[in-house]
Amino acid sequence: MPLRSRDWFGRTGKDGFIYRAWMKNQGFPHHEFEGKPVIGICNTWSELTPCNAHFRELAEAIKRGVWEAGGFPLEFPVMSLGECQIKPTAMLFRNLASMDVEESIRGNSIDGVILMCGCDKTTPSLVMGACSVDIPTMVVSGGPMLAGRFQGRKIGTSDLWRFAESFKMGEMSQAEFIAAEASMARSQGHCAVMGTASTMAAMVESLGLSLPDNATIPAADSRRKVLAHMTGVRMVELVKEGVKPSQILTRQAFENAIMVNAALGGSTNFILHLTAIAGRVGVDLSLDDFDTLSAKIPLLANLQPSGEHFVEDLFYAGGLPAVIRELRDVLNNDAITVNGHSIGENCADAQCYDPAVIASVGQPFKPESGVAVLRGNLCPNGAVLKPSAASPHLMQHTGRAVVFENIDDYKARIDDPDLDVDPTCVLVLKNVGPKGYPGMPEVGNMQLPAKILEQGVHDMVRISDGRMSGTGFGTVVLHVSPESAVGGNLALVQNGDLITLDVENRSLHLHVSDQELAGRLVHFKPLDLGYSRGYVNLYIRHVTQAHEGADFDFLRGGSGSEVKRDSH
Ligand code: FES
Repeated sequence: MPLRSRDWFGRTGKDGFIYRAWMKNQGFPHHEFEGKPVIGICNTWSELTPCNAHFRELAEAIKRGVWEAGGFPLEFPVMSLGECQIKPTAMLFRNLASMDVEESIRGNSIDGVILMCGCDKTTPSLVMGACSVDIPTMVVSGGPMLAGRFQGRKIGTSDLWRFAESFKMGEMSQAEFIAAEASMARSQGHCAVMGTASTMAAMVESLGLSLPDNATIPAADSRRKVLAHMTGVRMVELVKEGVKPSQILTRQAFENAIMVNAALGGSTNFILHLTAIAGRVGVDLSLDDFDTLSAKIPLLANLQPSGEHFVEDLFYAGGLPAVIRELRDVLNNDAITVNGHSIGENCADAQCYDPAVIASVGQPFKPESGVAVLRGNLCPNGAVLKPSAASPHLMQHTGRAVVFENIDDYKARIDDPDLDVDPTCVLVLKNVGPKGYPGMPEVGNMQLPAKILEQGVHDMVRISDGRMSGTGFGTVVLHVSPESAVGGNLALVQNGDLITLDVENRSLHLHVSDQELAGRLVHFKPLDLGYSRGYVNLYIRHVTQAHEGADFDFLRGGSGSEVKRDSH
């Protein structure tokens, strides 16, 4: 396959001089420009993305592999999204980062690209961008943190929610709270539980975009660097073979990713990101596919937040290959992966070393997995709930709505002693969808009112058009579509309306007649979003609804790898 980098470094005369001369200021000898495959290393290192703060070192391991295989590695930075730092929410910038990645790849002398992904949104943004260019691509994830240790027990990000409740109730002192802070993120890597970052790492492995074991080797484990090195080696071969993401990312690969995610109890954010990636490569994927495909998969992985263990334990128990092998009767085993073998071949010899962490299909950890896609007059285009993280006694529930018009209203009133609420009520939060609270923040698993927590109650049905952290849990209905800010029926819910959640029948119903809803709609006023300029203005005008992946309407599909004009 001809190398696209030859259109830069292989030129004669003035153009070739320009493309090579300045690169030589880095000390590269002339022979590096004479036909070696150029491997871009797309790095999301940033001290503001602490989960990816070890990526400089990891990039060096990738480069060693590229050099060894006869390639020419060139590292470049792209926008990095630190989930726990960037305001108002990293999701607001996922599509922006994907544009950075897409144009950085297309505009440069790169024959193949290795995406260095870690913290939540750094994976989908990089994969989305690369898919829209479609040159040979592999992913190296940063790996999970080691589990934290606090007061004699293991902790991870999911404990944050419990600590916050205990602190609020005065059961945990300020000093203990700060000590817990220092104990949780004690090593390099992304969140140690099956939150969104590990869900995304598992997604790329099950899609076939990475080498086996990419999802689970801890960041601090030397084998992470070995994987990075071997990815560099393989990447050079992949360029020579000319295998592009569009050949890997078939409908079968997406089905595999959905089924593996179900078995892992992965984050609900998976739905948004996988749908957006499918949109970039033109694979038809609907919200119902997530429910239908995961319906036949039990929960195999006993990992927080759905269970008790950590992602490092999953690695020690056999890693993702052991999970994939356990699912061999339902997966598309022939789906090809970036190492040239099918996913079935890659995992044929995998073993489970700890059934307490990876259960079998015959004796699963929990019978229900994946996501339940709900329909009804509250969510004609769908809403989602994660059964493995919900309370069984609330899976079929009717309750009186307690409505918060937006996040500020929620914050102002949730702990008001006069709030008219009891544990059977349904908390409804409006205007936190893609447009209503640009970026659709992770506020869907809203903390319960203090007066409810004081009763020893830790879960209630909660409904919103927002998202939930992959580390969160509870009986939480998310991604209600259409969202309230654009006039979805969620906007019309009033205090005291009855709502029925029926997960078994996949239904979410507001007990208000169509006639009454039509009357309420007359008084609906679209939210004044108040962003007249800049990126957020662009975002609001072009972001799609949750069931479509919340990508920009103009970014669906790809533009190929050809540079349309050349300025010299
Ligand atoms: Fe980065 Fe959790 S905050 S992965």
